Amino acid sequence: MPSPCIILVLSLLSLLSFTSSNTITLPLSHSFTKHPDPFHSLKLAASSSLTRAHHLKHHPLLTTPLSAKSYGGYSIDLNFGTPPQTSPFVFDTGSSLVWFPCTSRYLCSRCNFPNIDPTKMPTFIPKNSSSAKLLGCKNPKCGFIFGPDEQSRCPKCNPQSQNCTQTCPAYIIQYGLGSTAGFLLLENLDFPGKIVPDFLVGCSILSTRQPSGIAGFGRGKESLPSQMGLKRFSYCLISHSFDDAPENSDLILHTGSTGDSKTNGVSYTPFRRNPSVNNSAFLEYYYVNLRKVVVGGKRVKIPLKFSEPSVVDGNGGTIVDSGSTFTFMERPVYELLAQEFEKQLANLDRAKDVEAQSGLRPCFNVSGVGNMTFPELVFQFKGGAKMTLPLPNYFSLIGDSEVVCLTIISDGGLGPVKTSGPAVILGNYQQQNFYVEYDLENERFGFRPQICKKGA
Ligand SMILES: *[C@@H]1O[C@H](CO)[C@@H](O)[C@H](O)[C@H]1NC(C)=O
Ligand SMILES: *[C@@H]1O[C@H](CO)[C@@H](O)[C@H](O)[C@H]1NC(C)=O
Ligand SMILES: *[C@@H]1O[C@H](CO)[C@@H](O)[C@H](O)[C@H]1NC(C)=O
Ligand SMILES: *[C@@H]1O[C@H](CO)[C@@H](O)[C@H](O)[C@H]1NC(C)=O
Ligand SMILES: *[C@@H]1O[C@H](CO)[C@@H](O)[C@H](O)[C@H]1NC(C)=O
Repeated sequence: MPSPCIILVLSLLSLLSFTSSNTITLPLSHSFTKHPDPFHSLKLAASSSLTRAHHLKHHPLLTTPLSAKSYGGYSIDLNFGTPPQTSPFVFDTGSSLVWFPCTSRYLCSRCNFPNIDPTKMPTFIPKNSSSAKLLGCKNPKCGFIFGPDEQSRCPKCNPQSQNCTQTCPAYIIQYGLGSTAGFLLLENLDFPGKIVPDFLVGCSILSTRQPSGIAGFGRGKESLPSQMGLKRFSYCLISHSFDDAPENSDLILHTGSTGDSKTNGVSYTPFRRNPSVNNSAFLEYYYVNLRKVVVGGKRVKIPLKFSEPSVVDGNGGTIVDSGSTFTFMERPVYELLAQEFEKQLANLDRAKDVEAQSGLRPCFNVSGVGNMTFPELVFQFKGGAKMTLPLPNYFSLIGDSEVVCLTIISDGGLGPVKTSGPAVILGNYQQQNFYVEYDLENERFGFRPQICKKGA
């Protein structure tokens, strides 16, 4: 092992890479965040250099590794507290609260996921952090979750009294599957070279079906991008074939303005707002205009009722969601797509038994078929941005069998039954090996094909 001095110099050089757009990238590895001891001084040096560089440059950038998980999502590690405690989080653009399993009494029921031992789930211990604070009900951040009406958040406080000691109410959040409940904290969120003080974070004490905490990257005021005032964030999702492997890719957070500069090779489409003001859940989603779905050159016509969110009730439209695994389509839209694939692949044998077992459809037996051409699948968005999906993003071999299935779902198949909300949810499976950018400053969504595995 080389002397610490040499490590320091080499690492600082590799840590600070200045790209053409005057941004700074900090590659982090798991070992770097999880075993800080031998690298402590190095980390401090890197941090202070970065702080200085952030100061000098006006495009600060934070990077955190993103890894594929067999529970179907992608995970990031975040550090909270003083001294920092590291917790894994599901990276989720479809919800907004950031919460972690919390206290030594944390209880999660039905939490058996592959490669996750619920009894060994890391939990955040507020008592061990000198910066953890319970959120008061009068704090405007309590209003992020419970609305602007102070009196309804603080029912036990005399409105005339200045010193109300009541805490913000407990939260309960339902996800598609599972739920979580706990109380809200203000805590330091630590990145190398940047500490975000008084970050609103949920300390969950009771959950069902959660493989870890969740880092909400939605549009809500309580989300990580909103609290940090991010101008953009981007990621590249490595293939699910690396589920639970040490491979990871970068999640990049832009804390400073990048103007309206476009990223090389990226196609953009504007985000759109859900016109319905009645359902606040719809306000936290990232809506895009999916104009066309094309299968093997043939356009699948999506009825207007599904392609546009309704002014009356907000239902319909398309959102982008990193927390969903397979893309979801409302039954009538899905049927049109599945039928087009069935028509174009009519020469293959259907594997109905696998369809019944997996809930995916259509599935085909490709044993002994030899060279096989599958129809191309293209999502085309407003403004002309075309997402041409690599075959593994929409047809997947089931286990090590000779059967391939379409990895797009509808209600009645896998996934929750939905009768309202977005008609199309673009899941992470369809985003594998794409560089994906959420440009919040310019209200646009961008993507380009890219092999996400580092060094590939
Ligand atoms: C919290 O502090 C206790 C007592 O000092 C210690 O035993 C425990 O390991 C700490 N837990 C964490 C997660 O840091
Ligand atoms: C505020 O709290 C202090 C100590 O708890 C108490 O003595 C004081 O009367 C309170 N003031 C008001 C206006 O309620
Ligand atoms: C939406 O809210 C408005 C005003 O609060 C109300 O008049 C309208 O009936 C609501 N629409 C639906 C579909 O609930
Ligand atoms: C696929 O077809 C082959 C040959 O026709 C057959 O032996 C095999 O059992 C089929 N597999 C499934 C899962 O249907
Ligand atoms: C598959 O395609 C390749 C290249 O197009 C060709 O060389 C090969 O003979 C084909 N194999 C079969 C089984 O058709």
